[in-house]
Parts: sequence; C-alpha cells; structure tokens
Amino acid sequence: MTTAARKPAKVAVIGGTGMNQWPGLDVIESVVADTPYGAPSAPLVHGTVAGVEAIFLARHGEGHKLPPHAINYRANLWALKQAGVEQVIAIGAVGAIAGWFAPGALAIPHDLIDYTWGREHTYFDGRPGSGLKHIEFNQPYAPAVRRALIEAARAANVEARDGGVMAVTQGPRLESPGEIRRLKQDGCDMVGMTSMPEAALAAELDLPYACVAVSVNWAPGIGSGDIHGQIEHWLALSMAKVRAILERALPALGAD
Ligand code: HPA
Repeated sequence: MTTAARKPAKVAVIGGTGMNQWPGLDVIESVVADTPYGAPSAPLVHGTVAGVEAIFLARHGEGHKLPPHAINYRANLWALKQAGVEQVIAIGAVGAIAGWFAPGALAIPHDLIDYTWGREHTYFDGRPGSGLKHIEFNQPYAPAVRRALIEAARAANVEARDGGVMAVTQGPRLESPGEIRRLKQDGCDMVGMTSMPEAALAAELDLPYACVAVSVNWAPGIGSGDIHGQIEHWLALSMAKVRAILERALPALGAD
C-alpha cells in the first residue's frame, strides 16, 4: 500500500439507510478503526470519487445491523477526525412532514430539533479529562458544506431544496400521527432518526457537517398507504440522485 504518498481524504460521507455502500467510490482500502469510545459502525472505506480521495462510513454498520439509537456516534465522528477528515456529508432517509417535501424529493436542511434521548451525545461528558465546552449550535448544519451540496445539486441538475427543519426522533419505531402533528406544530419539515447526536458531535470536534435529506415516505398521518412500501420504493429511486450530488460536491470540498 502506498499510503505515505497519498493525500489524506478531507471529506467523509456517512451513508444511512439505502446507502450502506457507495457504488460511485473507487475503493482503495478498508480500515478498521478504534477510538477511545470504541469501534465505529463499520470500517472506514477509503477511495476516490471524481479523482478526489474520500472516506465512506456505513452508519448502520455492514449489513445495516445497527438501529439508530444503538449507533456509536461518538466513535464514528472521532474515527473520521482521527483519519484527518475536515468535512462531513451525512446522507439521511427521512419522512416528509412539509407538503413541499414529497417522497422522492431531496433537501439540504438548515436546522433541527432533537427529540432523541439516552444516546451518548457529547464528548464533554464530565468524565475525568473530558473537559467542558458549551459549543454553539446556531447553525447545526455547516453553511459552507450546505452551500457546496446545493451548488453540486444544481450542477448535477438534481433538485434539492435549500433548507428545512429536521426533527430527530428516537426510533426505531416510526412516529404516531399525534407525534407528527406535534413535530409539525414545532416547525419541523421532515423527520429522521440519526442527525442527532451526529451533528452536535461533529460540531464538538470542529468538523463542518451537513446532510442530504432524502424524502422516502409521507410521515404517519400526513399521507396514507403502506409506509414501508413507500420507503423501499423511494430509496431505490433516489440514491442515484444522491450519488450525482456527491460526485460534484467532493471535488469542490476536497480541493486544496
Ligand atoms: N420517521 C422517522 N424516520 C424516518 C422516517 C419516518 O417517517 N422515514 C425514514 N426515516
């Protein structure tokens, strides 16, 4: 392996449901990482896309075994930082709450509300030596990475809405219609299960982080019909669009 001659990847992609692998990535090597917080969800897959080196991490593990609440988010972000990554793009399949976000649509959310509980959500956990920093979270999704994703979508001729508020729920069950009504009243446009604590941990590590949200179903009570059928259908149809965005965003973000 000619690792010494290679430039480390500056950008990592964390793939979620429907993107357990990244077919557009020319794989160089898979690295099993370890961190003070334990092992990340999966080996870090180093490869190139459009000539730029990137790292891919399957959030739910190989074979999609980890439910959202059991993911070791701290190990995942730490491992990426340790590998030299400077920016993170997260891919998240979500349910649609806002009328503008019909299944099949993409958005680059700008804000979020955390409804999760009981997850290891900070590096400043009060243990000896952990230190303490109250990070700002005015922009939970980093503007520069968001901009690169929006511009990449435009260049790829893929529609991706600029903005949206993500509700992050605990899962693994889907929400009740009453819960979705509450999220809507709270101002949420979409609902997923993994942006938190992922976004906050990235911020604690000074890693600019943004998300490509893929609408794969109407949230319970918003639309009708078989939710799992919708999810399967729209996941299968949407990932090519996500890959097209990544192929353009990576060279922009990973350039020297
Ligand atoms: N709710 C929460 N998370 C999701 C959904 C949903 O409806 N669809 C995909 N991820």
